[in-house]
Amino acid sequence: MHQFDLTDDQPFDEPAYSSWDIAQHGPDPRPDWVITDLNALDTELGVLKTGKEADVHLVSRAVPNGPECLLAAKRYRGAENRLFHRDAGYQEGRRTRKSRDTRAMAKRTAYGRDLAAGQWAYAEFDALSRLWQAGAPVPYPVQVSGTELMLEFIGDADGAAAPRLAQRRPSPVELIDLFTQCTDAMRLLARAGYAHGDLSAYNLLVHHGRLMVIDVPQIVDIFANPQGASFLERDCTNICTWFAARGLQTDEFEHLFGDLMAEAVARW
Ligand SMILES: Nc1ncnc2c1ncn2[C@@H]1O[C@H](COP(=O)(O)OP(=O)(O)O)[C@@H](O)[C@H]1O
Ligand SMILES: [Mg+2]
Repeated sequence: MHQFDLTDDQPFDEPAYSSWDIAQHGPDPRPDWVITDLNALDTELGVLKTGKEADVHLVSRAVPNGPECLLAAKRYRGAENRLFHRDAGYQEGRRTRKSRDTRAMAKRTAYGRDLAAGQWAYAEFDALSRLWQAGAPVPYPVQVSGTELMLEFIGDADGAAAPRLAQRRPSPVELIDLFTQCTDAMRLLARAGYAHGDLSAYNLLVHHGRLMVIDVPQIVDIFANPQGASFLERDCTNICTWFAARGLQTDEFEHLFGDLMAEAVARW
């Protein structure tokens, strides 16, 4: 069992041995800051964000008297989620209360829920790996195991996380620069055949002026998915609406979706 599994009732703040050896590793070439030493210790430093489907924690991985790196641990919620247990009990308990069937069903549901959470973690890890290899501005995917993926932490060495674009109020000059970085990233994804699928100012981080794309479990193949073009168009609308509301004026708003479709087609 993973040392940070939420089913474990122990407090998380005790250092534990690095989970590197039990995890699937990210793509090569591996950045040199990634700590692969099995004597390294993982220490929970706090919660970056809790959400409906996943929680993101800040973890330090450090070799005693040696190098340290900060990681963002994104943990998809599985059957251990207490709220879910309550929901399941509410939905299933009425008709077959406390029967063997109920217990069997709850067990199967819990199992299914764990599987689903694991699928999301692996789907996001796989997507990040492909995007990172394509040169997109995404956090390096360090490892995945079970329902947890561990990513390059986007933030400062003191643990201060990069703000979401939605929290920023950029100056007019920054606004143009951030829009250019965003459309460059979208173009790179489109050239690789993908739309983000949930792109918004909440899934973009700004680290010292540099835009990073996050939250990619649902990336969409523009052509293989019948809704691919609609997802891409929605991403474009979300982004253009945000930048327009911040005062950016550009005729790129009108062309963006068409340009990105042309990029995607050109790849064939
Ligand atoms: N690699 C990272 N570095 C720093 N902060 C991160 C990182 N990944 C996620 N976060 C923080 O956690 C939040 C939630 O992550 P996200 O992947 O968007 O999950 P979700 O929206 O599905 O809960 C982000 O908005 C961001 O603030
Ligand atoms: Mg998100």
